[in-house]
Amino acid sequence: MSEFTSQASQTRMVAESAMLPEACEAEALVVFATEGGIGEGAVAAVDGAVGGVIARLATAGEITGKACECVPILAPTGIKAGQLLVVGLGKREDLDTGVIYRAAASAAKTLAARKRGTVAFLADGTWTTRQLEHAVAGSCVGMVGQDLYRKEKKRSRFGTTVWLAAPPDAVERGQQLGDGINLTRRLVNLAPEDMYPQAFAEEASAVAGHLGIDIEVWDENRLAKENCGALLAVSRGSSRPPRLVIMRYRGPGRRDGAPELALVGKGVTFDSGGLSLKPADSMMGMKCDMAGAATMLGAIATIASLKLPVDVVAAMGLVENMTGPAAYKVGDVLTARNGVTIEVHNTDAEGRLVLADVLDVVRGLSPARIIDAATLTGACMVALGHDVAGLFTNDQASCDQLLAAAKVAGEPVWQMPMFRHYDAQIESDVADIKNVGDGRWGGAITAAKFLERFVGSTPWTHIDIAGPAFADKPKPWCDGGGTGVMVRSLVELVRGSPEETT
Ligand code: BES
Ligand code: MN
Ligand code: ZN
Repeated sequence: MSEFTSQASQTRMVAESAMLPEACEAEALVVFATEGGIGEGAVAAVDGAVGGVIARLATAGEITGKACECVPILAPTGIKAGQLLVVGLGKREDLDTGVIYRAAASAAKTLAARKRGTVAFLADGTWTTRQLEHAVAGSCVGMVGQDLYRKEKKRSRFGTTVWLAAPPDAVERGQQLGDGINLTRRLVNLAPEDMYPQAFAEEASAVAGHLGIDIEVWDENRLAKENCGALLAVSRGSSRPPRLVIMRYRGPGRRDGAPELALVGKGVTFDSGGLSLKPADSMMGMKCDMAGAATMLGAIATIASLKLPVDVVAAMGLVENMTGPAAYKVGDVLTARNGVTIEVHNTDAEGRLVLADVLDVVRGLSPARIIDAATLTGACMVALGHDVAGLFTNDQASCDQLLAAAKVAGEPVWQMPMFRHYDAQIESDVADIKNVGDGRWGGAITAAKFLERFVGSTPWTHIDIAGPAFADKPKPWCDGGGTGVMVRSLVELVRGSPEETT
Protein backbone atom coordinates (compact mmCIF):
# COMPACT_ATOMS: atom_id res chain seq x y z
CA MET A 1 0.00 0.00 0.00
CA SER A 2 1.23 3.49 -0.64
CA GLU A 3 -0.63 6.21 -2.55
CA PHE A 4 -3.35 7.72 -0.33
CA THR A 5 -3.04 4.95 2.27
CA SER A 6 0.40 5.48 3.80
CA GLN A 7 2.92 8.27 3.98
CA ALA A 8 5.86 5.93 4.49
CA SER A 9 6.95 5.47 0.89
CA GLN A 10 6.06 8.97 -0.27
CA THR A 11 8.28 11.93 -0.93
CA ARG A 12 7.83 14.83 1.47
CA MET A 13 6.44 17.60 -0.71
CA VAL A 14 7.24 21.17 0.32
CA ALA A 15 6.29 24.50 -1.26
CA GLU A 16 8.67 27.43 -0.80
CA SER A 17 6.91 30.35 -2.38
CA ALA A 18 9.43 33.00 -1.28
CA MET A 19 12.84 31.28 -1.13
CA LEU A 20 15.38 32.44 -3.72
CA PRO A 21 16.57 29.55 -5.89
CA GLU A 22 20.24 30.33 -5.15
CA ALA A 23 19.57 29.92 -1.43
CA CYS A 24 18.00 26.49 -1.73
CA GLU A 25 20.17 23.76 -0.24
CA ALA A 26 19.14 20.86 -2.42
CA GLU A 27 21.09 18.08 -4.08
CA ALA A 28 19.66 19.28 -7.36
CA LEU A 29 17.76 22.30 -8.59
CA VAL A 30 15.57 21.79 -11.67
CA VAL A 31 14.94 24.76 -13.96
CA PHE A 32 12.75 24.76 -17.06
CA ALA A 33 13.75 26.32 -20.37
CA THR A 34 11.97 26.65 -23.72
CA GLU A 35 13.85 26.40 -27.00
CA GLY A 36 15.66 29.70 -27.41
CA GLY A 37 14.19 30.94 -24.13
CA ILE A 38 17.28 30.90 -21.90
CA GLY A 39 17.33 34.68 -21.63
CA GLU A 40 13.97 35.09 -19.90
CA GLY A 41 11.95 34.20 -16.85
CA ALA A 42 13.02 31.91 -14.04
CA VAL A 43 15.86 30.29 -15.95
CA ALA A 44 17.41 33.70 -16.71
CA ALA A 45 17.37 34.58 -13.01
CA VAL A 46 19.14 31.34 -12.11
CA ASP A 47 21.58 31.87 -14.95
CA GLY A 48 22.47 35.22 -13.44
CA ALA A 49 23.20 33.53 -10.12
CA VAL A 50 25.50 30.93 -11.71
CA GLY A 51 27.46 33.45 -13.76
CA GLY A 52 25.86 32.85 -17.14
CA VAL A 53 26.92 29.22 -17.56
CA ILE A 54 23.46 28.21 -18.85
CA ALA A 55 23.58 30.82 -21.60
CA ARG A 56 27.13 29.75 -22.55
CA LEU A 57 26.07 26.11 -22.77
CA ALA A 58 23.09 27.15 -24.88
CA THR A 59 25.34 29.09 -27.24
CA ALA A 60 27.63 26.06 -27.48
CA GLY A 61 24.61 23.95 -28.41
CA GLU A 62 24.82 21.76 -25.28
CA ILE A 63 21.47 23.01 -24.02
CA THR A 64 18.77 23.27 -26.68
CA GLY A 65 15.58 23.40 -24.62
CA LYS A 66 14.04 20.61 -26.72
CA ALA A 67 11.10 18.95 -24.98
CA CYS A 68 12.22 16.70 -22.10
CA GLU A 69 15.94 17.26 -22.73
CA CYS A 70 17.73 17.09 -19.36
CA VAL A 71 21.20 18.66 -19.09
CA PRO A 72 22.95 18.53 -15.69
CA ILE A 73 25.40 21.20 -14.64
CA LEU A 74 27.35 19.65 -11.79
CA ALA A 75 28.75 21.60 -8.84
CA PRO A 76 27.70 25.04 -10.13
CA THR A 77 29.04 28.11 -8.35
CA GLY A 78 26.78 30.85 -7.06
CA ILE A 79 23.95 28.61 -5.87
CA LYS A 80 23.73 26.24 -2.94
CA ALA A 81 22.34 23.29 -4.90
CA GLY A 82 24.76 20.50 -5.76
CA GLN A 83 23.67 20.45 -9.37
CA LEU A 84 21.49 22.37 -11.73
CA LEU A 85 19.32 20.33 -14.07
CA VAL A 86 18.08 22.27 -17.09
CA VAL A 87 15.01 20.58 -18.55
CA GLY A 88 13.60 21.47 -21.94
CA LEU A 89 10.01 22.56 -22.61
CA GLY A 90 10.29 22.56 -26.41
CA LYS A 91 9.04 25.39 -28.61
CA ARG A 92 7.10 28.10 -26.87
CA GLU A 93 4.24 27.87 -29.36
CA ASP A 94 3.82 24.13 -28.63
CA LEU A 95 3.79 24.61 -24.87
CA ASP A 96 0.78 23.09 -23.12
CA THR A 97 0.04 21.37 -19.82
CA GLY A 98 1.07 18.01 -21.24
CA VAL A 99 4.50 19.33 -22.22
CA ILE A 100 5.02 20.80 -18.76
CA TYR A 101 3.86 17.57 -17.04
CA ARG A 102 6.23 15.48 -19.14
CA ALA A 103 9.18 17.86 -18.70
CA ALA A 104 8.83 17.84 -14.91
CA ALA A 105 8.46 14.05 -14.99
CA SER A 106 11.56 13.71 -17.18
CA ALA A 107 13.64 15.72 -14.73
CA ALA A 108 12.32 13.68 -11.79
CA LYS A 109 12.94 10.41 -13.63
CA THR A 110 16.52 11.43 -14.45
CA LEU A 111 17.31 12.47 -10.89
CA ALA A 112 15.53 9.46 -9.34
CA ALA A 113 18.05 7.12 -10.94
CA ARG A 114 19.77 7.17 -7.56
CA LYS A 115 18.78 7.90 -3.97
CA ARG A 116 18.48 11.60 -3.18
CA GLY A 117 17.64 13.61 -0.11
CA THR A 118 16.24 16.92 -1.35
CA VAL A 119 15.45 17.90 -4.93
CA ALA A 120 14.10 21.35 -5.76
CA PHE A 121 12.06 22.44 -8.79
CA LEU A 122 11.74 26.07 -9.79
CA ALA A 123 8.25 26.86 -11.07
CA ASP A 124 8.07 29.14 -14.07
CA GLY A 125 6.21 32.36 -13.42
CA THR A 126 4.44 32.22 -16.78
CA TRP A 127 2.55 29.01 -16.00
CA THR A 128 -1.10 28.97 -14.98
CA THR A 129 -1.95 27.46 -11.60
CA ARG A 130 -3.28 24.41 -13.44
CA GLN A 131 -0.03 23.98 -15.31
CA LEU A 132 1.94 24.26 -12.08
CA GLU A 133 -0.24 21.56 -10.51
CA HIS A 134 0.37 19.23 -13.43
CA ALA A 135 4.11 19.95 -13.23
CA VAL A 136 4.06 18.92 -9.57
CA ALA A 137 2.12 15.79 -10.52
CA GLY A 138 4.76 15.06 -13.16
CA SER A 139 7.52 15.37 -10.58
CA CYS A 140 5.71 12.74 -8.44
CA VAL A 141 5.19 10.39 -11.38
CA GLY A 142 8.71 10.62 -12.80
CA MET A 143 10.38 9.49 -9.60
CA VAL A 144 8.36 6.25 -9.46
CA GLY A 145 9.30 3.31 -11.65
CA GLN A 146 7.91 -0.07 -12.56
CA ASP A 147 10.54 -1.89 -10.50
CA LEU A 148 8.04 -3.22 -7.96
CA TYR A 149 9.74 -6.58 -7.69
CA ARG A 150 13.41 -5.56 -8.02
CA LYS A 151 15.71 -5.73 -5.01
CA GLU A 152 17.87 -3.00 -6.51
CA LYS A 153 15.40 -0.31 -7.42
CA LYS A 154 15.88 1.56 -10.67
CA ARG A 155 14.14 4.65 -9.25
CA SER A 156 14.11 6.10 -5.75
CA ARG A 157 11.64 8.69 -4.54
CA PHE A 158 13.32 11.85 -3.29
CA GLY A 159 13.29 12.22 0.49
CA THR A 160 11.98 15.76 0.05
CA THR A 161 10.71 17.49 -3.07
CA VAL A 162 10.70 21.28 -2.86
CA TRP A 163 8.76 23.46 -5.28
CA LEU A 164 10.11 27.00 -5.37
CA ALA A 165 8.05 30.02 -6.44
CA ALA A 166 4.93 27.90 -6.01
CA PRO A 167 1.93 28.43 -3.73
CA PRO A 168 1.52 25.63 -1.15
CA ASP A 169 -2.11 24.85 -2.04
CA ALA A 170 -1.25 24.30 -5.70
CA VAL A 171 1.69 22.08 -4.76
CA GLU A 172 -0.57 20.03 -2.52
CA ARG A 173 -3.16 19.61 -5.28
CA GLY A 174 -0.42 18.62 -7.70
CA GLN A 175 0.82 15.94 -5.33
CA GLN A 176 -2.70 14.58 -4.91
CA LEU A 177 -2.97 14.32 -8.67
CA GLY A 178 0.44 12.64 -8.88
CA ASP A 179 -0.62 10.17 -6.18
CA GLY A 180 -3.73 9.28 -8.20
CA ILE A 181 -1.66 8.62 -11.31
CA ASN A 182 0.88 6.57 -9.37
CA LEU A 183 -1.91 4.53 -7.79
CA THR A 184 -3.23 3.64 -11.23
CA ARG A 185 0.28 2.84 -12.47
CA ARG A 186 1.16 0.62 -9.53
CA LEU A 187 -2.00 -1.47 -9.84
CA VAL A 188 -1.34 -1.95 -13.56
CA ASN A 189 2.29 -2.84 -12.91
CA LEU A 190 1.59 -5.50 -10.30
CA ALA A 191 1.89 -9.08 -11.54
CA PRO A 192 -1.46 -10.66 -12.42
CA GLU A 193 -0.87 -13.28 -9.72
CA ASP A 194 -0.89 -10.42 -7.19
CA MET A 195 -3.54 -8.25 -8.84
CA TYR A 196 -6.60 -10.48 -9.30
CA PRO A 197 -10.22 -9.37 -8.79
CA GLN A 198 -10.34 -9.73 -4.99
CA ALA A 199 -6.89 -8.13 -4.63
CA PHE A 200 -8.09 -5.11 -6.64
CA ALA A 201 -11.20 -4.90 -4.47
CA GLU A 202 -9.01 -4.87 -1.36
CA GLU A 203 -6.83 -2.09 -2.76
CA ALA A 204 -9.94 -0.11 -3.60
CA SER A 205 -11.33 -0.68 -0.10
CA ALA A 206 -8.11 0.56 1.49
CA VAL A 207 -8.15 3.70 -0.64
CA ALA A 208 -11.85 4.25 0.04
CA GLY A 209 -11.37 3.81 3.79
CA HIS A 210 -8.54 6.31 3.82
CA LEU A 211 -10.35 8.96 1.80
CA GLY A 212 -13.84 8.47 3.21
CA ILE A 213 -15.37 7.16 -0.02
CA ASP A 214 -18.35 4.77 0.31
CA ILE A 215 -17.61 1.39 -1.21
CA GLU A 216 -19.57 -1.72 -1.97
CA VAL A 217 -18.00 -4.94 -3.28
CA TRP A 218 -20.22 -7.48 -5.02
CA ASP A 219 -18.96 -11.05 -4.92
CA GLU A 220 -19.95 -13.86 -7.29
CA ASN A 221 -23.15 -14.62 -5.35
CA ARG A 222 -24.35 -11.05 -5.46
CA LEU A 223 -23.41 -10.84 -9.14
CA ALA A 224 -25.53 -13.95 -9.78
CA LYS A 225 -28.47 -12.47 -7.85
CA GLU A 226 -28.11 -9.32 -9.94
CA ASN A 227 -28.25 -11.33 -13.17
CA CYS A 228 -24.82 -10.22 -14.34
CA GLY A 229 -24.72 -13.10 -16.81
CA ALA A 230 -22.22 -11.55 -19.21
CA LEU A 231 -19.61 -10.63 -16.61
CA LEU A 232 -20.02 -13.97 -14.84
CA ALA A 233 -19.58 -15.93 -18.07
CA VAL A 234 -16.18 -14.32 -18.67
CA SER A 235 -15.05 -15.15 -15.13
CA ARG A 236 -15.97 -18.85 -15.30
CA GLY A 237 -12.69 -19.99 -16.82
CA SER A 238 -10.73 -18.71 -13.86
CA SER A 239 -10.10 -20.06 -10.37
CA ARG A 240 -10.31 -16.45 -9.18
CA PRO A 241 -13.88 -15.31 -8.47
CA PRO A 242 -15.06 -12.03 -10.03
CA ARG A 243 -15.85 -8.83 -8.18
CA LEU A 244 -17.75 -5.64 -8.89
CA VAL A 245 -16.51 -2.60 -6.97
CA ILE A 246 -18.86 0.36 -6.62
CA MET A 247 -17.48 3.52 -5.02
CA ARG A 248 -19.50 6.63 -4.30
CA TYR A 249 -17.94 9.96 -3.49
CA ARG A 250 -20.21 12.81 -2.46
CA GLY A 251 -18.35 16.08 -2.15
CA PRO A 252 -19.13 18.93 0.22
CA GLY A 253 -22.75 19.95 -0.18
CA ARG A 254 -23.67 16.92 -2.32
CA ARG A 255 -25.74 14.68 -0.09
CA ASP A 256 -28.89 13.95 -2.11
CA GLY A 257 -29.85 12.95 -5.56
CA ALA A 258 -28.36 10.97 -8.40
CA PRO A 259 -24.65 11.09 -9.27
CA GLU A 260 -23.69 13.68 -11.87
CA LEU A 261 -21.08 11.35 -13.28
CA ALA A 262 -20.52 7.60 -13.36
CA LEU A 263 -17.03 6.28 -14.10
CA VAL A 264 -16.90 2.70 -15.35
CA GLY A 265 -13.69 0.70 -15.74
CA LYS A 266 -12.77 -2.56 -17.46
CA GLY A 267 -10.91 -4.64 -14.91
CA VAL A 268 -9.75 -7.80 -16.64
CA THR A 269 -6.85 -8.59 -14.33
CA PHE A 270 -5.41 -10.94 -16.93
CA ASP A 271 -6.64 -11.54 -20.47
CA SER A 272 -5.45 -14.86 -21.87
CA GLY A 273 -8.14 -14.58 -24.53
CA GLY A 274 -10.03 -17.50 -22.99
CA LEU A 275 -10.68 -20.45 -25.31
CA SER A 276 -10.13 -18.09 -28.27
CA LEU A 277 -6.63 -18.10 -26.84
CA LYS A 278 -4.23 -15.29 -27.63
CA PRO A 279 -0.93 -16.18 -29.30
CA ALA A 280 2.02 -15.93 -26.87
CA ASP A 281 3.25 -12.58 -28.17
CA SER A 282 -0.12 -10.90 -27.80
CA MET A 283 -0.64 -12.34 -24.32
CA MET A 284 2.49 -10.63 -23.02
CA GLY A 285 1.43 -7.46 -21.33
CA MET A 286 -2.16 -8.54 -20.72
CA LYS A 287 -1.80 -7.80 -17.02
CA CYS A 288 -2.58 -4.27 -18.23
CA ASP A 289 -6.14 -5.25 -19.10
CA MET A 290 -7.42 -3.87 -15.80
CA ALA A 291 -6.03 -0.41 -16.62
CA GLY A 292 -9.53 1.01 -17.18
CA ALA A 293 -10.55 -0.01 -13.66
CA ALA A 294 -7.28 1.31 -12.23
CA THR A 295 -7.80 4.60 -14.10
CA MET A 296 -11.24 5.06 -12.58
CA LEU A 297 -9.95 4.18 -9.11
CA GLY A 298 -7.09 6.68 -9.53
CA ALA A 299 -9.55 9.30 -10.77
CA ILE A 300 -12.14 8.94 -8.00
CA ALA A 301 -9.38 8.78 -5.36
CA THR A 302 -7.93 12.05 -6.66
CA ILE A 303 -11.38 13.65 -6.87
CA ALA A 304 -12.03 12.68 -3.24
CA SER A 305 -8.57 13.73 -2.11
CA LEU A 306 -9.12 17.15 -3.70
CA LYS A 307 -12.55 17.26 -1.98
CA LEU A 308 -14.16 18.43 -5.21
CA PRO A 309 -17.81 19.51 -4.83
CA VAL A 310 -19.29 16.75 -6.98
CA ASP A 311 -21.23 13.51 -6.69
CA VAL A 312 -19.42 10.76 -8.57
CA VAL A 313 -19.78 7.01 -8.67
CA ALA A 314 -17.08 4.68 -9.97
CA ALA A 315 -17.75 1.05 -10.85
CA MET A 316 -15.10 -1.47 -11.80
CA GLY A 317 -15.88 -4.89 -13.29
CA LEU A 318 -13.14 -7.30 -12.20
CA VAL A 319 -12.56 -10.69 -13.78
CA GLU A 320 -9.75 -12.90 -15.04
CA ASN A 321 -10.27 -14.24 -18.58
CA MET A 322 -8.91 -17.79 -18.48
CA THR A 323 -9.38 -21.21 -20.05
CA GLY A 324 -10.33 -23.39 -17.07
CA PRO A 325 -12.75 -26.33 -17.45
CA ALA A 326 -15.80 -24.17 -16.83
CA ALA A 327 -14.69 -21.50 -19.31
CA TYR A 328 -17.38 -19.89 -21.45
CA LYS A 329 -17.36 -21.07 -25.02
CA VAL A 330 -17.73 -19.78 -28.51
CA GLY A 331 -21.38 -20.30 -29.48
CA ASP A 332 -22.62 -19.72 -25.94
CA VAL A 333 -25.52 -17.35 -25.60
CA LEU A 334 -25.35 -15.11 -22.55
CA THR A 335 -28.10 -13.04 -21.03
CA ALA A 336 -26.79 -9.70 -19.83
CA ARG A 337 -28.25 -7.94 -16.79
CA ASN A 338 -30.46 -5.75 -18.97
CA GLY A 339 -31.95 -8.84 -20.65
CA VAL A 340 -30.11 -8.52 -23.97
CA THR A 341 -28.93 -11.90 -25.27
CA ILE A 342 -25.39 -12.12 -26.64
CA GLU A 343 -23.99 -14.81 -28.88
CA VAL A 344 -20.29 -15.36 -28.16
CA HIS A 345 -18.21 -15.45 -31.33
CA ASN A 346 -14.86 -14.88 -29.68
CA THR A 347 -14.03 -15.29 -25.98
CA ASP A 348 -11.22 -12.75 -26.42
CA ALA A 349 -13.81 -10.02 -26.91
CA GLU A 350 -14.46 -10.26 -23.16
CA GLY A 351 -14.08 -6.64 -22.08
CA ARG A 352 -17.34 -5.55 -23.69
CA LEU A 353 -19.15 -8.41 -21.94
CA VAL A 354 -17.86 -7.32 -18.56
CA LEU A 355 -18.68 -3.67 -19.27
CA ALA A 356 -22.18 -4.57 -20.53
CA ASP A 357 -23.26 -5.56 -17.02
CA VAL A 358 -21.33 -2.84 -15.20
CA LEU A 359 -22.82 -0.16 -17.45
CA ASP A 360 -26.28 -1.50 -16.67
CA VAL A 361 -25.59 -1.44 -12.93
CA VAL A 362 -24.55 2.23 -12.99
CA ARG A 363 -27.48 3.09 -15.24
CA GLY A 364 -29.67 1.96 -12.36
CA LEU A 365 -28.24 4.82 -10.30
CA SER A 366 -29.52 7.33 -12.91
CA PRO A 367 -26.24 9.24 -13.38
CA ALA A 368 -26.40 12.38 -15.52
CA ARG A 369 -23.67 10.88 -17.69
CA ILE A 370 -21.38 7.89 -17.93
CA ILE A 371 -17.74 7.64 -18.96
CA ASP A 372 -16.04 4.30 -19.32
CA ALA A 373 -12.35 3.55 -19.78
CA ALA A 374 -11.17 0.24 -21.17
CA THR A 375 -8.19 -1.40 -22.84
CA LEU A 376 -10.84 -2.65 -25.21
CA THR A 377 -9.43 -3.30 -28.67
CA GLY A 378 -6.19 -3.86 -30.53
CA ALA A 379 -8.06 -2.24 -33.41
CA CYS A 380 -7.96 1.10 -31.59
CA MET A 381 -4.17 0.83 -31.55
CA VAL A 382 -4.20 0.05 -35.28
CA ALA A 383 -6.23 3.22 -35.79
CA LEU A 384 -4.52 5.64 -33.41
CA GLY A 385 -1.18 4.13 -32.38
CA HIS A 386 0.33 3.81 -28.94
CA ASP A 387 -0.14 7.28 -27.55
CA VAL A 388 -3.67 8.36 -28.39
CA ALA A 389 -6.90 7.28 -26.69
CA GLY A 390 -10.04 6.82 -28.82
CA LEU A 391 -13.32 8.47 -27.83
CA PHE A 392 -16.76 7.14 -28.79
CA THR A 393 -20.04 8.70 -27.74
CA ASN A 394 -23.81 8.74 -28.04
CA ASP A 395 -23.90 12.39 -26.94
CA GLN A 396 -21.69 14.97 -28.61
CA ALA A 397 -22.06 17.55 -25.83
CA SER A 398 -20.62 15.29 -23.13
CA CYS A 399 -17.88 14.06 -25.47
CA ASP A 400 -17.00 17.71 -26.16
CA GLN A 401 -16.56 18.30 -22.43
CA LEU A 402 -14.17 15.38 -22.23
CA LEU A 403 -12.29 16.60 -25.31
CA ALA A 404 -11.96 20.01 -23.66
CA ALA A 405 -10.73 18.49 -20.38
CA ALA A 406 -8.15 16.40 -22.24
CA LYS A 407 -6.98 19.58 -23.93
CA VAL A 408 -6.59 21.31 -20.57
CA ALA A 409 -4.56 18.34 -19.32
CA GLY A 410 -2.62 18.03 -22.56
CA GLU A 411 -3.46 14.36 -23.10
CA PRO A 412 -3.98 13.35 -26.75
CA VAL A 413 -7.41 11.87 -27.54
CA TRP A 414 -9.29 11.49 -30.81
CA GLN A 415 -12.99 11.03 -31.43
CA MET A 416 -14.07 8.14 -33.66
CA PRO A 417 -17.35 7.93 -35.60
CA MET A 418 -20.40 6.04 -34.34
CA PHE A 419 -22.48 6.00 -37.55
CA ARG A 420 -25.68 3.99 -37.36
CA HIS A 421 -24.69 1.65 -40.17
CA TYR A 422 -22.08 -0.03 -37.96
CA ASP A 423 -24.92 -1.47 -35.86
CA ALA A 424 -25.64 -4.08 -38.51
CA GLN A 425 -22.22 -5.58 -37.84
CA ILE A 426 -23.10 -6.83 -34.37
CA GLU A 427 -26.40 -8.44 -35.35
CA SER A 428 -26.60 -12.16 -34.58
CA ASP A 429 -28.76 -14.87 -36.17
CA VAL A 430 -29.42 -16.62 -32.89
CA ALA A 431 -29.36 -13.87 -30.26
CA ASP A 432 -30.01 -10.12 -29.99
CA ILE A 433 -26.38 -9.29 -30.70
CA LYS A 434 -22.99 -10.96 -31.03
CA ASN A 435 -19.80 -9.91 -29.26
CA VAL A 436 -17.68 -9.13 -32.35
CA GLY A 437 -18.19 -7.26 -35.60
CA ASP A 438 -18.07 -8.81 -39.08
CA GLY A 439 -14.36 -9.31 -39.59
CA ARG A 440 -11.79 -7.10 -37.95
CA TRP A 441 -12.22 -3.83 -39.86
CA GLY A 442 -13.51 -1.02 -37.69
CA GLY A 443 -13.10 -3.25 -34.63
CA ALA A 444 -12.74 -0.39 -32.17
CA ILE A 445 -16.03 1.07 -33.39
CA THR A 446 -18.01 -2.18 -33.42
CA ALA A 447 -16.82 -2.73 -29.82
CA ALA A 448 -18.11 0.72 -28.89
CA LYS A 449 -21.36 0.01 -30.74
CA PHE A 450 -21.75 -3.08 -28.57
CA LEU A 451 -21.31 -1.02 -25.38
CA GLU A 452 -23.84 1.53 -26.63
CA ARG A 453 -26.56 -1.14 -26.29
CA PHE A 454 -26.14 -1.06 -22.52
CA VAL A 455 -26.31 2.65 -21.70
CA GLY A 456 -29.84 3.38 -22.92
CA SER A 457 -30.35 7.10 -23.41
CA THR A 458 -27.83 8.17 -20.76
CA PRO A 459 -25.19 10.48 -22.25
CA TRP A 460 -22.11 8.29 -22.46
CA THR A 461 -18.54 8.45 -23.68
CA HIS A 462 -16.28 5.44 -24.04
CA ILE A 463 -12.49 5.84 -23.89
CA ASP A 464 -10.48 3.05 -25.52
CA ILE A 465 -7.08 3.23 -23.81
CA ALA A 466 -5.63 0.02 -25.31
CA GLY A 467 -2.78 2.07 -26.82
CA PRO A 468 -1.76 4.62 -24.19
CA ALA A 469 -2.50 2.71 -20.94
CA PHE A 470 0.66 0.66 -21.07
CA ALA A 471 4.10 1.50 -22.45
CA ASP A 472 6.18 -1.42 -23.71
CA LYS A 473 9.26 0.79 -23.70
CA PRO A 474 10.27 3.57 -21.33
CA LYS A 475 9.69 7.18 -22.37
CA PRO A 476 11.89 10.09 -21.31
CA TRP A 477 9.22 11.07 -18.77
CA CYS A 478 8.04 7.68 -17.59
CA ASP A 479 9.38 4.21 -17.10
CA GLY A 480 7.66 1.49 -19.10
CA GLY A 481 4.50 -0.19 -17.84
CA GLY A 482 1.31 1.52 -16.63
CA THR A 483 1.13 5.18 -17.58
CA GLY A 484 -1.88 6.43 -15.63
CA VAL A 485 -3.21 7.98 -18.83
CA MET A 486 -6.55 9.84 -18.59
CA VAL A 487 -6.46 10.31 -14.81
CA ARG A 488 -5.41 13.93 -15.36
CA SER A 489 -8.10 14.51 -18.00
CA LEU A 490 -10.87 12.93 -15.89
CA VAL A 491 -9.92 15.01 -12.87
CA GLU A 492 -9.90 18.16 -15.04
CA LEU A 493 -13.31 17.19 -16.41
CA VAL A 494 -14.73 17.00 -12.91
CA ARG A 495 -13.02 20.23 -11.83
CA GLY A 496 -14.60 22.13 -14.70
CA SER A 497 -13.03 24.74 -16.90
CA PRO A 498 -9.89 26.39 -15.52
CA GLU A 499 -11.26 29.84 -16.39
CA GLU A 500 -13.81 29.41 -13.60
CA THR A 501 -11.41 28.29 -10.91
CA THR A 502 -7.94 29.03 -12.31
N1 BES B 1 -7.62 -6.69 -24.01
C1 BES B 1 -7.77 -6.84 -25.40
C2 BES B 1 -7.42 -5.58 -26.20
C3 BES B 1 -5.99 -5.09 -26.11
C4 BES B 1 -5.09 -5.40 -27.11
C5 BES B 1 -5.58 -4.30 -25.06
C6 BES B 1 -3.80 -4.95 -27.03
C7 BES B 1 -4.27 -3.83 -24.98
C8 BES B 1 -3.38 -4.16 -25.98
C9 BES B 1 -9.20 -7.22 -25.72
O1 BES B 1 -9.86 -7.96 -24.76
C10 BES B 1 -9.17 -8.07 -26.96
O2 BES B 1 -8.59 -9.12 -26.89
N2 BES B 1 -9.75 -7.58 -28.04
C11 BES B 1 -9.77 -8.30 -29.27
C12 BES B 1 -11.17 -8.22 -29.84
C13 BES B 1 -11.41 -9.13 -31.01
C14 BES B 1 -11.36 -10.57 -30.56
C15 BES B 1 -12.74 -8.79 -31.59
C16 BES B 1 -8.75 -7.65 -30.20
O3 BES B 1 -8.58 -6.43 -30.14
O4 BES B 1 -8.10 -8.38 -30.92
MN1 MN C 1 -9.49 -10.04 -24.95
ZN1 ZN D 1 -9.24 -7.70 -22.84
